[in-house]
Amino acid sequence: MAADGDKLQEFMGKMAGDMGAAMSASLVVLGDRLGLYKALADAGPSTSAGLAAKAGVNERNLREWLAAQAASGYVDYDAVSSKFSLNAEQTMVFANEESPAFMAGGFDVISAMFQDEAKVGETFKTGRGMGWHEHCPCLFRGTERFFRPGYNANLVSAWIPALDGVEAKLRQGASVADVGCGHGASTVLMAKAFPNSHFVGFDYHGPSVERARLLAAKEGVADRARFETASAKDFPGAGYGLVTIFDALHDMGDPVGAAQHIKASLAPDGTFMLVEPNACDNLKDNLNPLGRMFYSASTMICTPASMSQEVALALGAQAGEARLTQVAHEAGFTRVRRATETPFNMVLELRP
Ligand SMILES: C[S@@+](CC[C@H](N)C(=O)[O-])C[C@H]1O[C@@H](n2cnc3c(N)ncnc32)[C@H](O)[C@@H]1O
Repeated sequence: MAADGDKLQEFMGKMAGDMGAAMSASLVVLGDRLGLYKALADAGPSTSAGLAAKAGVNERNLREWLAAQAASGYVDYDAVSSKFSLNAEQTMVFANEESPAFMAGGFDVISAMFQDEAKVGETFKTGRGMGWHEHCPCLFRGTERFFRPGYNANLVSAWIPALDGVEAKLRQGASVADVGCGHGASTVLMAKAFPNSHFVGFDYHGPSVERARLLAAKEGVADRARFETASAKDFPGAGYGLVTIFDALHDMGDPVGAAQHIKASLAPDGTFMLVEPNACDNLKDNLNPLGRMFYSASTMICTPASMSQEVALALGAQAGEARLTQVAHEAGFTRVRRATETPFNMVLELRP
């Protein structure tokens, strides 16, 4: 089949953009790790020499990094003064860890995808999957930093209020389990917002639980947010007013088994809040930039993680509401409702 010259040119143009983005991802990780974005945000418009002195790095290396950043549109460049700067939006995305738009942490996840590529590739042949715990540690920290901004922006102000009667219950005092809590970003945030309630985060990955404990202590909520190593199918406790899973059900081998255990652990009027990546039900409707991101992460991380566990259902990160509702019904939840959503996440309310 002969290639169409115009279409080929267009496709090559797209590939030049994609390859540039892929290559520049390593520079984002480097700049984030060396504190270069934060140094530039603090310093304001700077020459490469001025910023090198402030950041304590070699000027020649930094000048090349800055040129690449300017070509990416990640920093601004003024050709008259030869100064580089971060505008307000670039600062939010790369330098301000507390901003709802902070995205630099996501590049640690990308880094893990490259570092673990050979191991994941091996599982394509064996089909045995690859556990979350088998990944490069930068995945765990990256997930915490990538997801936290979304939780900061939405969890307390929008997601919990969208659930029927849950906010009032938490204000009064309830017991809450956060299952597959990872580093506990969501658990700690809820504990800060609802001082009368008690929270326990469960995750099967011991080092993540350790890190969550440190975080709770640092944020001053260790009295009401504790963490235990446990799997979603056998975590202890009963009578929970709320059980949450943030972006972890699809990573589990047996999501139906996990949801069944959650149902059994709830108080009779309890709620299961399930946060999952926002996706349409059909592949063709997910062929967009967000679907591209989620399917990619799912190929390298989520699907192998599920395949490494018993049942190995492998929902994938783009399961969609219909498939998740089916899982909920199989586990015995009768009432399932999309309570709210953001471009990144859907929030499902499951009641017995
Ligand atoms: C994508 S991370 C999300 C972590 C956390 N909920 C967050 O939002 O930052 C998925 C988490 O699910 C945990 N996980 C996977 N399978 C599990 C299982 N069967 N039981 C408990 N946790 C599990 C992993 O260890 C990991 O911390």
